[in-house]
Amino acid sequence: MKGLFITFEGTEGCGKSTQAELLVRRLRVLGHRARPLREPGGTPIGEEIRHTLKHSKNNVRMTGETELLLVNASRAQLVREVIRPALEAGEIVVCDRFFDSTVAYQGYGRQLDLKMVKAVVAVAAGGVRPDLTLLLTVSNEISELRRAIRQSTLPFMRDRMEEANREFFERVTKGYWAIAAAEPERVRVLDGSGTVEDVCQAIWEVVHPALPKVGRW
Ligand code: TMP
Repeated sequence: MKGLFITFEGTEGCGKSTQAELLVRRLRVLGHRARPLREPGGTPIGEEIRHTLKHSKNNVRMTGETELLLVNASRAQLVREVIRPALEAGEIVVCDRFFDSTVAYQGYGRQLDLKMVKAVVAVAAGGVRPDLTLLLTVSNEISELRRAIRQSTLPFMRDRMEEANREFFERVTKGYWAIAAAEPERVRVLDGSGTVEDVCQAIWEVVHPALPKVGRW
């Protein structure tokens, strides 16, 4: 495909949403057509699924399998409605989370069978793979602290995913390390605990060499 597909990954509070936004801004300043997206979400259907997964008052009894199918229903829609057409049109798609989140959260975190998780992901992603994945790491302590701050400043935005216990997030982190070790070319690990500016610069140093694919840098 002609465009460039960049994804951001990491646990809660790693700063990826801020960095994804900054990257899109920088690419646009340079004249690129850059499209910010997020998962779950990014389409009207996906945003409804996101609400169900995270904030709905009816989501308390959600099982791991339901969670797996919902994140992938959102993905199936996003890939076909937005990502694939954008890449075919030569755009740079910057997505806050993609299929590595499912392996890390539902595979490692919820401990669902990895083979089943990957099979469901394959249906949803329909052959679309990121060209480059930026995995931002922070310690579990920083992640926990940032989660606690978010929950105390937004008490009306209860988030079911953030209610999981420490062991869950430790397993998610382990999952991300396994993903990065298996695909070091695609998945670049960056320390997310520096200043916003430092992390932004480190990201740029990884992204910049990939830009010739979209014909301009
Ligand atoms: P975030 O956009 O604030 O990171 O919230 C998304 C939440 O959804 C986060 O807790 C991770 C979770 N998630 C999964 O569990 N599996 C997935 O495949 C995706 C994309 C997200």
